Amino acid sequence: MVHITWSCMVLGAILILSFTAQISAKAVVDENGVKTSVFLSPKFVMGPGSVVNRVYDNVDFPKGHIAIKSFDAEVVDEAGSPVPLQETYLHHWVVVRYQQKIDADIPESIGNLGLHQSKYSVLPNSGVCQNEVLEQYFGLGSETRKTSTHVPDPYGIEIGNPSDISPGYEERWMLNVHAIDTREVQDKLGCTECRCDLYNVTQDERGQPLNPNYRGGLRCCHDHLQCKLKEGSEGTTRALYMKFTVKWVEWSSSVVPVRIYIFDVTDTWRKENNPVHHCLVEYEVEPCNSGEDCTHIKRATSPIPKGGHVIYAVAHQHSGGNGSALYGEDGRLICASVPTYGTGTEPGNEAGYIVGMSTCYPEPGSVALSDGEMLTLESNYSRTQFHTGVMGLFYILIADHPERPLHTNHVQGQTTRPFEPLDLVPMIGLLGLVVIAAAGIAYHRRRFQTEDGYQSIVM
Ligand SMILES: *[C@@H]1O[C@H](CO)[C@@H](O)[C@H](O)[C@H]1NC(C)=O
Ligand SMILES: *[C@@H]1O[C@H](CO)[C@@H](O)[C@H](O)[C@H]1NC(C)=O
Ligand SMILES: *[C@@H]1O[C@H](CO)[C@@H](O)[C@H](O)[C@H]1NC(C)=O
Repeated sequence: MVHITWSCMVLGAILILSFTAQISAKAVVDENGVKTSVFLSPKFVMGPGSVVNRVYDNVDFPKGHIAIKSFDAEVVDEAGSPVPLQETYLHHWVVVRYQQKIDADIPESIGNLGLHQSKYSVLPNSGVCQNEVLEQYFGLGSETRKTSTHVPDPYGIEIGNPSDISPGYEERWMLNVHAIDTREVQDKLGCTECRCDLYNVTQDERGQPLNPNYRGGLRCCHDHLQCKLKEGSEGTTRALYMKFTVKWVEWSSSVVPVRIYIFDVTDTWRKENNPVHHCLVEYEVEPCNSGEDCTHIKRATSPIPKGGHVIYAVAHQHSGGNGSALYGEDGRLICASVPTYGTGTEPGNEAGYIVGMSTCYPEPGSVALSDGEMLTLESNYSRTQFHTGVMGLFYILIADHPERPLHTNHVQGQTTRPFEPLDLVPMIGLLGLVVIAAAGIAYHRRRFQTEDGYQSIVM
């Protein structure tokens, strides 16, 4: 009897432990030097029609001087199960690198870092938007489950290099999650496009009155707002988490660092009279009239500050997106990235939602950009219906032009250069999941005011 009772207790304890472990997972698995960690965000609770736009400071992140190889994310419930987009629409998640004074007394979280400028500073990506917009290292939206974020060998996104951090500071990571619960709402697309009329909102997150011409976008679906529900709906709230699966390798001289750039089709940069990368992040698509061409085409041209080899590229679009491309100064195609729409109901295949974006992995060295080269970003949307708050971003990873040629001759898949331990890495990469990176989103500090129209808000 005693033994039975004891085993039952042990079994119960194991069950409880494994459940807890599932929820606060932070396991590190090492496969031939490629480490995998799984992190969960703090919990957020959502009910039908509710909006979460939270900023979490100092989130868990792999430590040390390392190279990130992939960064995948999804929304899960308390049991760790993936939550489909038609229930919780993931507008975006972005992860921002910053440094903070060690031992600085800053209240936890809530995105008020702007008040503590002397104690922290963002360590942004390499460009190109100014005014603290789109500074993230990683970030995606509804396409997060089926968009490859993998950084091929020998490349990696370098983080945790002590020499990049000011003395007395430490590197930290900030997470912004924007999600909309569309269970039982009247208009799912309208809620996900942040249509102002559905949110009964007249001022933005900072209390600034909204221009009546502003019909939808992030300024109309800030944290704690509520989208219009169907009559008589009664919903249950539930706890959710962002789950991050990060792969990395220890930094070494054989890893080649890449720079991250995010281009925005709403960038107002003009060579002659406005050479500032003012990125509006969102825009509107007016519906077409019958007989008219029903593709909305938006383009923006601006220079990349420093060139190099394109290692990876991906676009970010919202529902209605019909493909996007980045072109070089001479019109050559750098990368075309097209959306995949889901066809069912299960997570990763939700009908009508963009569940993935195609990515480009040019053979290293085959797609080179020169310093200051003018790049043109093109973002197409279907005009069969009206859209607010759509985006056209392009996230690219660039490696410096190598100082010496790689001496790699691919002959029937064989390499003729001497064997190096690093040669194993691509194979390991192939075994791993596909993966990364991020289009992302608006990321903007409170002190930047806008008169009207689109502007990112996230912070
Ligand atoms: C909309 O907002 C106004 C003022 O904030 C409030 O009086 C009204 O009840 C709200 N309407 C709905 C349907 O929530
Ligand atoms: C773009 O739109 C056309 C016409 O609606 C459609 O046939 C095509 O599949 C779309 N392409 C993408 C990438 O969505
Ligand atoms: C955008 O649409 C135009 C007109 O249909 C087409 O010529 C162009 O190739 C499209 N661009 C992309 C990136 O799909």
